[in-house]
Amino acid sequence: MTTALLRDSVDGRPLTDAEIVSIVRNWTVGELGTIAASIGIVVEFLARRPDVVELLRDDPGATGTATDEILRIHAPLVANRRGTRRSVTIRGRRIQEDERVIVLWASANRDERVFGDPDEFRLDRDPGDNLLYGRGIHDCPGAPLARLELRVVVEALLATFPALALPAGGRRELGRYPGSGFSVLDVRLA
Ligand code: HEM
Repeated sequence: MTTALLRDSVDGRPLTDAEIVSIVRNWTVGELGTIAASIGIVVEFLARRPDVVELLRDDPGATGTATDEILRIHAPLVANRRGTRRSVTIRGRRIQEDERVIVLWASANRDERVFGDPDEFRLDRDPGDNLLYGRGIHDCPGAPLARLELRVVVEALLATFPALALPAGGRRELGRYPGSGFSVLDVRLA
């Protein structure tokens, strides 16, 4: 794909190095990285929550809502950057035009004013509050594919292994920003 991009053109000119880097970055961090992080997060959650595993075995139709909620609690994509095009005041805080700001999805999706206890797993939340796949003109075009991939993973996992568990003393290391999820996670599949 990268070789194809090097040969590609837009408006009759080759892509610049900066454009190619931006596309490859979006692709690796935004698509492969988020899915890899999401699978670790979902597996870790299910290994800690046999009640949710049982719920999904009884009602596989709830898998999409459940993975959205698990990934609200533990964000696979922590943040994105923005440049402001005009000055704005948000909750008394003035942000000037042309400033660099960070949209912290991980924090917004755990806002107590919206979600109450952010760690509480609930299937009856308003999906419109969940910013997992962003909001506005840049919202994630890959969301349907991501949801499909996660559903297939969870279905295959639960169909193959009756029980998931985090072994006592097992390794569990969180991924480092700008990544998320786990860099190491021991799970017992039985
Ligand atoms: C669980 C997995 C995923 C999560 C959590 C996720 C999340 C997001 C979020 C929050 C944004 C908005 C970025 C912003 O506003 O700056 C975004 C944008 C984007 N996502 Fe995803 N994404 C996921 C999977 C995917 C997949 C599988 C693809 C492609 C097949 C994809 C392609 C993109 C692209 C191209 C954009 C940029 C859209 C634009 O700037 O107009 N994403 N994603």
